[in-house]
Amino acid sequence: MKFSKVWSLILLCSSQGATAQLDIGQTSYTQFCSACHGKNGEGLSVEGNSAAGIPPLSQSEWLKGDADRVAQILLHGLEGPITVKGRSYNQIMPAQGALSDEQAVAVINYVRREFVGEKANYTLGDFKLARKFSKDRKKGWKAKELQELYPLPRPVSPIKNLLMQTYDGEWEATPNFSEIKSNAIEEEHDGYISLKKINKKKLFGVMWEGDFVVTKKAIYEFELDSDDGSRLTVGGNVVTSVKGMGGMGRRKIGKISLEPGSHKFRLEYFQNRGGKGLTLRYRERKTKWKWLSDAVQRNQPEKRIIDITPKDGKVRMYSNFIAGSTHRTMGVAYPHENNIAFSTENCNLDLIWKGDFINAGRHWVGRGQGAEAPASKDVVRLFKSVPWLNADGSQALKVKLKGYSMDKTGSPTFSYLVDSDLMVSDHFVSSAGSFQRVMNIESKSDREILFKISAQGAFKNGIIYIGDLMLKLPADTEVSSQGKSYHLKLSLKKGSNPLTILYTWKK
Ligand code: HEC
Repeated sequence: MKFSKVWSLILLCSSQGATAQLDIGQTSYTQFCSACHGKNGEGLSVEGNSAAGIPPLSQSEWLKGDADRVAQILLHGLEGPITVKGRSYNQIMPAQGALSDEQAVAVINYVRREFVGEKANYTLGDFKLARKFSKDRKKGWKAKELQELYPLPRPVSPIKNLLMQTYDGEWEATPNFSEIKSNAIEEEHDGYISLKKINKKKLFGVMWEGDFVVTKKAIYEFELDSDDGSRLTVGGNVVTSVKGMGGMGRRKIGKISLEPGSHKFRLEYFQNRGGKGLTLRYRERKTKWKWLSDAVQRNQPEKRIIDITPKDGKVRMYSNFIAGSTHRTMGVAYPHENNIAFSTENCNLDLIWKGDFINAGRHWVGRGQGAEAPASKDVVRLFKSVPWLNADGSQALKVKLKGYSMDKTGSPTFSYLVDSDLMVSDHFVSSAGSFQRVMNIESKSDREILFKISAQGAFKNGIIYIGDLMLKLPADTEVSSQGKSYHLKLSLKKGSNPLTILYTWKK
C-alpha cells in the first residue's frame, strides 16, 4: 500500500515537471512565435502569393525527426526559398536571440508535440551542443543546408505491406514474375520502391507487391519510367507499362478509378544489360505528383558531367551517395587535390583520394540513382564501420553526428557524440601531398577506448601503410592489431584529449 503511494507521488512530480515545461513552452510560443506563425501554428497566407506569406508550423515536416533542425532555426534564423507542406515561401525569419535557453528548449518541445505529435524529449544539454556546433555561424540558415544536415523524414507511403522479390534471368520483355521462382524476398517497411539495395548490374528482375491504400474515391494517375522494362498492376488491372528494352525517358502514364480502401499493388521490372533505373509516382488527378520510388529530378539531360573539383583554394562539400561509403556520407574536396568521404552515419573516414573530386552529374541532373564513384582512380578505402570501440575491442560504441560547422574557406569540423558522453570534434587540414586529421575528444571521466584506424595494410615504426597512403600516428601511441585491423589505444583523461594523425601520399 505505502509503496504504491510513494510511486504515485513520484509519478505525479515528474509528470508535473514535464507539464510545467510545456506551459513555459506554450507561453513562450505565444510571446515569441505566434505573431508570425499564428496562434495555432497555421501560418499566414497572403492571397494568391504564397511566397509572401509565413509558413505554417502545424503539420510541418520541418518540425519532424531530428529536433536539432528546429534548434538551429531558432539559433540563427532561416532565409531564402523553402517548401513547407507542398507550398513554397521565400522570406526571412530572424534568429530568436531573445529566448533564454530554457525557453528555447521548452518551445522546441512544445511545437514538436503540439503541431506534429513528436515526443517532448529535447533537453538543455542537446540545445547547448546544438549551439556549440554552430557557434561560428554568422548568418541565417538556408533550407537546403538544414536539409543536408538533418534530412526531412519522407511522407508516409500509401503502399502498405510492401514485399520485394528478386529474380535472376535474361529477359527482353517483362515476364510474369508471379510464375517464376524468386531467389530472395524482403519486406520494405517504408513502403517505397527502390533499386538501391540491389547490387547486381545486369540480368535480373524485381517484383514488388503490397496494398495501395486510398481514402478517397477518385481517378488516380501513375507515371512509370524504367531501364529496361516494367509493368504496374493495381487492383488486378494493368495500369501502365514501359515495354521492352531501352533507357530511361520512356515515361508512361496510366489512370485508374479507385474506391476508398486497399487495392492490390504489383510492380514488375526487369534489367537486361546496360544502365538500370526505375521511377514511379502518382497523383490524384490534377494534384501534385507524389513519389512512390526514390525521387529524381527531371527534364534535364542525363549523365551530364559536372566537375565540382575546387580550383579556387576553397573547400567543397558534396552530400550524396558515394560508392564505397555509407548511404549518408559527406564528400569533401580540399585544396591540393585531397578528398575524403566522411560517413555521417558511422562518423568515420571511409575513403581518401587524390586528384579530381567527383562528377556531380548523376545526382544533380541525372536519374539520381546509385552511388557515384570518386572521379579519380587514386582511392584508398579505409573501412566502412564505426571506428570507436570499447577497451577490449569486442564492441563498437554508439555514435551520433551532432553536425558540422565551417570556417571561412568552407572547411568543415564534424562534431559527434561517442557512447553518449564523449564529444568529438574532427577536422582536416590539407597541404601538398598530405593532410592532417585533427581531433579532440572531450571526456567526462578517465577511461580507455580503442580507435580503429585501418582494416588493412602493414604497421612499422609508428606508420601504417595502406596502398599509396602512409598514416603517421602520434609518438608513443599504443597500437594493437586484430587480424589486419589496427587499433589505437586511447587512455582518455577527464577533459580535452587531442589526437592528430598525418596522412601522407607516397609520391
Ligand atoms: C518575424 C516573424 C517570425 C517569428 C517571430 C518566428 N518565425 Fe519562424 N519563420 C518565419 C518565416 C518568414 C519563415 C520562413 C523563412 C523562409 O522563407 O526561408 C519561418 C520558418 C520557420 C520554420 C521552418 C518552416 C516551417 O514552417 O516549419 C520553423 C520550424 C519556425 N519558423 C519556427 C519558429 C518558432 C518556434 C518561432 C518562435 C520561437 C518562430 N519560428 C518565430 C517567421 C517567423
